[in-house]
Amino acid sequence: MEENASFDIRLIPTHVAIIMDGNGRWAEERNKPRLAGHKAGVDSVRAVVETAREIGVRHLTLYAFSTENWQRPPTEVSGLMKLLRTYLESELRTMLKNDIRLFCLGQRERLPTDVRKVLEKVMADTDQCRAMTLNLALSYGGRNEMMRAVRQLAGQCALGELEWQSLSEDMLSDLLDTAGQPDPDLLIRTGGERRLSNFLLWQASYAELYFTDTKWPDFRREQLLEAITVYGNRQRRFGKTGSQLQAG
Ligand code: FPP
Repeated sequence: MEENASFDIRLIPTHVAIIMDGNGRWAEERNKPRLAGHKAGVDSVRAVVETAREIGVRHLTLYAFSTENWQRPPTEVSGLMKLLRTYLESELRTMLKNDIRLFCLGQRERLPTDVRKVLEKVMADTDQCRAMTLNLALSYGGRNEMMRAVRQLAGQCALGELEWQSLSEDMLSDLLDTAGQPDPDLLIRTGGERRLSNFLLWQASYAELYFTDTKWPDFRREQLLEAITVYGNRQRRFGKTGSQLQAG
């Protein structure tokens, strides 16, 4: 345990967001190609989705592919896309059985047509599922997401449909890809780096940050439960003092 804690089921975060980092290094340490790390990472995705659903997390957001990841070698990009497609095809039944709705954050129009089609089918088929929403951030960047929202607001102002003085935080939130979903309570990054890498920049304003050296392929049920235990033992003050919070 990174911080001394016991597991308390009442303190389950509503929304957990994860930067799944370290697949490449995990593979390199084993003298395997980077794609072997991503493949093992898919098993971690399965384990973490299953555990999150089981313990009552309502929203789980996984950073699967960033806007910057398009710059990786073409073989790695196409390998990742293939893994994504296979994952989606194989997981539909389990998602329906477990009442999991699939949703996508990011520029899905940039994805290869075959991947986009499967993604949209799984999203449509699971649209009525309610126990948990699984957001896959694909071709996602926080700044890009915010700029798309800002352009829409600016356009509405230019057309006279909105007054710039009336712009509010909620109006911007409602135009982000996460519209209608609560902000993340807990943001986890695996793989040892301690940065946000353009992930949920607006939404993570008050998220508890949890960094671990564990590389994503080694992050499974036990590691998620540990992160949630640590979260449960932190005091979230939202800018107030500790005694203000105790007074309610
Ligand atoms: C970062 O590790 C991870 C990624 C860029 C991709 C994450 C993708 C998966 C876990 C598999 C596919 C996803 C789903 C949802 C089925 P890295 O390659 O940057 O690792 P490194 O920092 O060690 O090089």
